[in-house]
Amino acid sequence: MRLAAAELVESREILPGQWLQSFHAPEMAIGCRAGQFVHVKTGDDSGMILRRPFSINTADPISGIITIHFRVIGRGTGWFTRLRAGDHVEMLGPLGRPFEVDPRSRHLLLIAGGLGVAGVRMLADEALRDGRQVTLLFGAASSREVYPSSLLPDEIEYVVATDDGSIGHHGYVTELVADYESWADQAFACGPTPMLGALAKLASSRRQRLGVAKLGRKRGGGKHDAIGSPAARRKAFLQVAMEQNMGCAVGACLGCVVMSVTGTPQRVCREGPVFAAEELVWDGAWS
Ligand SMILES: Cc1cc2nc3c(=O)[nH]c(=O)nc-3n(C[C@H](O)[C@H](O)[C@H](O)COP(=O)(O)OP(=O)(O)OC[C@H]3O[C@@H](n4cnc5c(N)ncnc54)[C@H](O)[C@@H]3O)c2cc1C
Ligand code: FES
Repeated sequence: MRLAAAELVESREILPGQWLQSFHAPEMAIGCRAGQFVHVKTGDDSGMILRRPFSINTADPISGIITIHFRVIGRGTGWFTRLRAGDHVEMLGPLGRPFEVDPRSRHLLLIAGGLGVAGVRMLADEALRDGRQVTLLFGAASSREVYPSSLLPDEIEYVVATDDGSIGHHGYVTELVADYESWADQAFACGPTPMLGALAKLASSRRQRLGVAKLGRKRGGGKHDAIGSPAARRKAFLQVAMEQNMGCAVGACLGCVVMSVTGTPQRVCREGPVFAAEELVWDGAWS
């Protein structure tokens, strides 16, 4: 984890109220992994004390550029949109635990709800670089909020669902999963908690016959891996990136906990944000 003065290189509104910003932050770009996040300080004139957490959307270790993709929610994200190229922000990161891909996985299914695409976007780059096949299932309310395919690598299969049917599948993105579950070795999701909960339920009911479950059984037999361990994530069919409200983002304030199936609270900023879906309680124990 490092503290860096990141220089804004480019800032543009890619969808109504959604911004893509590129920062020169070589300290972050080198060594960060998909699923991790940065905690960014707003300016002294903003009157805000807490930093804002953002997924690392993409990272290029050669140019030293990382990007974040965010929706304007309140004062913090509004402040970011007023930054200009050449401005600097104080960035803490990379933070949290990354997605874990089993070395034998060939087919990765990424599932994103809305801004959740920022949570899985970098995994597409990593997977393609490692010679894997990637399908991204993306869900949004309407065509106005669909992530532009021009911002995705050409090699990935991109399938869209919209709630109003204005483009792609008419319905929830979760309804697309059944078509891919036998193809996928592993699945990785980020988005609203109800969507992640629905996916977790789906995955647990099919655990015995999903591709990654077979990989897990071959590799570890009946052995149980510690909650939060890389091995537990690697063996899971579904890994989820959580976005709880955060205070410190370094494990001190306990403001970001979710509940594990063993009853041990898990800090999203330290034990997460990526968890094996089966490690968490999904029945409303937290929100
Ligand atoms: C690990 C992680 C990764 C995230 N990645 C992204 C991303 O890539 N793109 C994106 O658009 N958003 C992301 N978020 C959510 C983003 O941090 C909030 O939307 C943002 O902090 C809102 O700040 P604000 O000042 O504009 O809103 P306000 O409502 O004024 O924020 C008030 C406080 O609540 C916190 N907060 C509000 N909403 C959220 C939320 N949904 N999650 C976490 N904290 C929140 C803020 O940090 C702040 O402390 C992520 C959150 C987490 C925890
Ligand atoms: S945000 Fe403080 S412990 Fe996670």
